[in-house]
Order: sequence, then structure tokens, then C-alpha cells
Amino acid sequence: MLVKTIETQTVEQTRRLACDLVKKLPRPAVVALSGQLGAGKTQFIKGLGEGLGLDPQKICSATFVLIAEYGEDRQLVHIDAYRFDKPEELENIGWYELLDQPQTVIAIEWADKVQDILPPEHLNVQIEILDDHRRQITLTARGQSYLSALDSL
Ligand SMILES: Nc1ncnc2c1ncn2[C@@H]1O[C@H](COP(=O)(O)OP(=O)(O)O)[C@@H](O)[C@H]1O
Ligand SMILES: [Mg+2]
Repeated sequence: MLVKTIETQTVEQTRRLACDLVKKLPRPAVVALSGQLGAGKTQFIKGLGEGLGLDPQKICSATFVLIAEYGEDRQLVHIDAYRFDKPEELENIGWYELLDQPQTVIAIEWADKVQDILPPEHLNVQIEILDDHRRQITLTARGQSYLSALDSL
């Protein structure tokens, strides 16, 4: 396990961090985000999209759709577990098929709700609000390929 804590002062810095990171992640990748409402989870995922060459404007909250897919070959899959009552609901939206997609980066908001179902190897992103614009972002890599990605950041 490797942990890095980074403080960002602006939305752009948060997005840039995600943008740099996604290029280093394995495929498929699981990025598990947690943090209170308004912490910046969706902004971070927009940054992941930017790093994949996607239009961040098209990436928006997935709270109501539960799952959204972007890019060719499902390059980015955005899941929001906020409305899930139990982790098994992830299985109902094709979770195990997603994990078999060789090109996909899967980003999950409110991942603490589905923690038990996540594969043992993944990147955990915990965002804490310090004040209006400052965020403390704690990245925890579990598994060798995520460890290398985080190490080279
Ligand atoms: N450093 C920062 N990083 C990310 N978002 C920030 C930052 N500073 C301010 N914000 C604001 O916080 C809000 C984060 O919203 P969002 O990403 O939708 O949160 P979440 O998905 O965690 O509920 C946005 O309005 C964004 O402009
Ligand atoms: Mg959100």
C-alpha cells in the first residue's frame, strides 16, 4: 500500500492531478472516490476524462443515472453509488462485465458504499474540504500496478 496526500487550491489543480494520474493507471482501472457532497469527486472524474482525451463538459453528475459511459470502447465509466442501498446494487448494473473491459477506467463516487465488492487492487481517492477552494486529496494505491502509478506521479 502506498499513500500520497496532495493539497489543491483550485478546481483546475484537482482536475490536473486526475489528468496526470489517469495516464499512469493500469487498464482496466478502478478509481474509488469518497468525500462529502461538494468535495470535488465529480471534478476529479472530469480530470480523468480530460486525461483520456474526452470532453470534460460532457461528464456530469451521475447521481441520477447511476452509471454513465464515455468514449469509444467505454474508455471511462462513471458510477455514482450515492443512491445505492446495498453494495449488491453494483452487480445489477453489470459490475463484473465492466471489470472485464480491457480499456476501461471505472470511477466510482461514494465508493465507501460498495467497498466490500471492489477488487482488492484499486486506487482510493479521499477528498476532504479544507475551505472554499482548498481540498486535501489522499490517494491510496492497493496493488502493484496502482503502486507504480502513484509512485511515478
Ligand atoms: N480545489 C478544488 N477541487 C475541486 N473542487 C473545488 C475546489 N475548490 C472549489 N471546488 C468546487 O467544489 C465543488 C465540487 O463539486 P463536485 O465535484 O460536484 O463535488 P462532489 O462530486 O464531490 O459532490 C465544485 O463546485 C467546485 O467548483
Ligand atoms: Mg459528484
